[in-house]
Amino acid sequence: MFELYLDTADAKHVARFNACLPIKGVTTNPSIIAKSGIGLNQLLVELDSILGKKACFHVQVTSVTVDEMVAEARKIDELPYNMVVKIPATEIGLAAIKQIKTENITVLATAIYSAQQGFLAALCGADYLAPYVNRIDAIGADGVGVVADLQCLLNQHHLNSKLLPASFKNVQQVMDVLKLGVAAITLPYDIAVQLFAHPSVQPAVDQFSLDWQTAFGNKRSFES
Ligand code: G3P
Repeated sequence: MFELYLDTADAKHVARFNACLPIKGVTTNPSIIAKSGIGLNQLLVELDSILGKKACFHVQVTSVTVDEMVAEARKIDELPYNMVVKIPATEIGLAAIKQIKTENITVLATAIYSAQQGFLAALCGADYLAPYVNRIDAIGADGVGVVADLQCLLNQHHLNSKLLPASFKNVQQVMDVLKLGVAAITLPYDIAVQLFAHPSVQPAVDQFSLDWQTAFGNKRSFES
């Protein structure tokens, strides 16, 4: 089952899209939480009240050594929610992932900028891989191409990691990775808004209303 996440620490944004979409959960990173002005514990209370107990919350460690990452991962995992621990896929991060995956902790390898980097994280047992599509594009490389290569490597080597691409700045990037068959995606709020935006939709709906009212006034379909 495809997993749709929102990449935000804004509870109002989560509430808006949870009302109309099957939101699996919320992904965050230290920058997103820092900008939100509230800490993780308050954020999780707010998100839990909107999304309920089935939701998954992806939270990144802020530690910088292997031992500290492992210890922080355990603490995040112990929180009373369905947690996924995000670890940057650096050399140190991969060492932490290797250790953490000997315990029953769900891990997302983040800050992935190349297919080979994601492949190594998958070999270390990461449950999710987050390639940064727009950030890769922004440095002159091919974000969608990295996702495609990584999906190919996962398939070829029968690795179970799920691709959860992140970092989008336009709808085309989103559509391109969805067409690759990724297992999950996380969308920033403004891109989620744009997925609904088509200038022809509302005029079409308005015309239906006008035609109906002209013929039947305030009657509903079943009353006509
Ligand atoms: O968590 C990774 C993702 O949020 C990065 O997105 O928009 O900062 O490139 P962005």
